[in-house]
Amino acid sequence: MPETVTEEKNEEGAKAEAPKECRYVVLAGFGGLKMLKVQKKAEPSPGEGEVLIRVKACGLNFVDLMVRQGVLEHPPKTPLTIGFECSGEVEGIGENTEGIAVGDRVIGFTDYGAWGELVVVKAKYVYKMPSNMTYQDGAALPMNFLSAYIMLFDIGNLKKGMSVFVHNVGGGVGHAVSQLCKTVEEVCLYGTASSHKHEAVKDNVNSVIDRAADYCQEVRKLSPEGVDIVLDCMCGEDTNKGISLLKPMGKYVLYGSSNIVTGETKSFFSFAKSWWQVDKVSPIKLFDENKTISGFQLRNLAFQQGQDQYIRTVMNKIFQLYSQGKIHPVIDSVWAFEDVPDAMQKMHDRKNIGKLILDPSQEPKPKVQSAPSVEGAPSQEDGKDNKETVVNGDQQ
Ligand SMILES: NC(=O)c1ccc[n+]([C@@H]2O[C@H](COP(=O)([O-])OP(=O)(O)OC[C@H]3O[C@@H](n4cnc5c(N)ncnc54)[C@H](OP(=O)(O)O)[C@@H]3O)[C@@H](O)[C@H]2O)c1
Repeated sequence: MPETVTEEKNEEGAKAEAPKECRYVVLAGFGGLKMLKVQKKAEPSPGEGEVLIRVKACGLNFVDLMVRQGVLEHPPKTPLTIGFECSGEVEGIGENTEGIAVGDRVIGFTDYGAWGELVVVKAKYVYKMPSNMTYQDGAALPMNFLSAYIMLFDIGNLKKGMSVFVHNVGGGVGHAVSQLCKTVEEVCLYGTASSHKHEAVKDNVNSVIDRAADYCQEVRKLSPEGVDIVLDCMCGEDTNKGISLLKPMGKYVLYGSSNIVTGETKSFFSFAKSWWQVDKVSPIKLFDENKTISGFQLRNLAFQQGQDQYIRTVMNKIFQLYSQGKIHPVIDSVWAFEDVPDAMQKMHDRKNIGKLILDPSQEPKPKVQSAPSVEGAPSQEDGKDNKETVVNGDQQ
């Protein structure tokens, strides 16, 4: 009957037109780990000057924890796909996209939106990977190595025989700093790290100091006059300490505010404390003491301040160092999208040594069933105590 034929045609048409979907890590709202969801969305297509990347690996950074908590100065609107860096294969290109072809192996640097199976990135933030680079290494480069390179060489003007102090030397940026310091003769690096990381990082630094120790005192025992470059990602009271640690002609660089993060969700107290602990710095005092203070924010430089060409130049230098075997990202672990809450928890717990990577093709860890509750047994309500039963975000 004619009606049936039309209905069948419509059904077939609807099936043919159903948009293909792919998976993304979406931040539903600011807060704890349960705000992270893996959701399916329609596959995107590249517009003018854009590149469509089939993602093979993404980088997880400390700033992603801060984004989730909503503690950034200019927080994004939620819900949104989070993540700032990925690597993969080019699957499509928009008009006016030069120098990149379908099938190229690339790194994408994004202003959010990197943690998906298919991601659209502006061509000016897409970098063709050297042929010997793995996707995991590629995804580990932008945030850690661009930042470390620019701070050491373009801001700090690192030269033979200088000394550098950095916090969290066992982390992503920390490893990048230590490897880049080794590319210059006789550079002396001091760094802090949680004690369980000391064995792993001891060969990368001249002296590794426990993160809970009085690091100014420890550094001065080894170098009484202080250091040439202080890289500070902690802020708060560490800003004053860092500036005090400088030698004459020394440079202090503020590039983070990790002290703000004290738990799984935003703490208004630590947020405020971090700012009120920073002393006002008088230019006259800097003039008297021959010290320089500066700040560095890669994402603002790239996405707000139009420095994409400069960043590309730095990325090319990093590629060269990688190809010469002088640098190599240290990968701590690789995670499925569904296990991002666990990966973030690992970073909160200060357990990562190097970079955390997400692999969209990786199967999530099997969910561990919680044992049936036994009457009279101690409660494990606290998230930290029952962590073994907490595998994927929705369970938290
Ligand atoms: N300005 C920029 O453009 C820029 C770019 C990249 C990164 N950053 C900053 O650089 C810092 C390091 O970033 P990353 O991605 O490489 O992270 P990461 O160092 O790989 O991982 C975080 C590590 O930081 C330490 N840490 C310090 N405060 C912490 C806290 N409140 N909670 C948990 N861990 C804390 C822990 O190591 P220990 O316990 O061993 O100290 C932890 O393992 C962050 O402050 C980040 O915002 C800034």
